[in-house]
Amino acid sequence: MPKGEVLLVSGSFRRGSHNAALLRAAANALPGGVTHEWLTGIAALPLYSEDDDGERPPLAVEELRRAIAAAEAVLIATPEYNGSVPGGLKNAIDWASRPFPANALRDKPVAVIGASTGIFGAIWAQAELRKSLRTAGARVVDADLAVGGAHDAFLPSGELRDPGLATGLRDLVAVLVAAAFEPLLTDGH
Ligand SMILES: Cc1cc2nc3c(=O)[nH]c(=O)nc-3n(C[C@H](O)[C@H](O)[C@H](O)COP(=O)(O)O)c2cc1C
Repeated sequence: MPKGEVLLVSGSFRRGSHNAALLRAAANALPGGVTHEWLTGIAALPLYSEDDDGERPPLAVEELRRAIAAAEAVLIATPEYNGSVPGGLKNAIDWASRPFPANALRDKPVAVIGASTGIFGAIWAQAELRKSLRTAGARVVDADLAVGGAHDAFLPSGELRDPGLATGLRDLVAVLVAAAFEPLLTDGH
């Protein structure tokens, strides 16, 4: 297994976020030799404007693009706000999608998971996020995980309480790692 880094992105900036908890559980499922970093600074991004997206974009934007470019793979956990992707996360995807088509997300293996306190586990937000990521050129892996009832979904150890979800998370992490490190074994898009 070659060394590499998975960038963890939480669509929630809330202290005590269930989506951040989901990413911590995912990080524990990474195989040896694969490290992880947390994307910070999404909340510091300005609202996207093409006027600001020239030769010298804002520093927070450069850092966002650098962090994505440096990672072998990206794992995003998103909440659902009013049936869709939280605005802050969508704003980050919009910044990361430019310049098009040679953006930091292009051909980047990305997996999307999500947690919500409702029963569906942010499935609408996840679907819309995958659509945006594919439009930006990312290689979104064919795997998903929806954690509903997120306020009761984690054990004190940080693991998912539901064994089926815990297995699903491990399987999804394995699919993402395979897409990043064994691209010849996957079927591309
Ligand atoms: C503005 C707002 C809108 C929300 N809309 C939805 C929704 O459409 N569907 C849903 O399942 N939960 C919705 N929720 C509840 C979130 O699932 C819940 O707050 C969740 O814990 C957010 O994720 P986090 O714990 O990672 O911050 C909403 C919460 C907020 C604050």
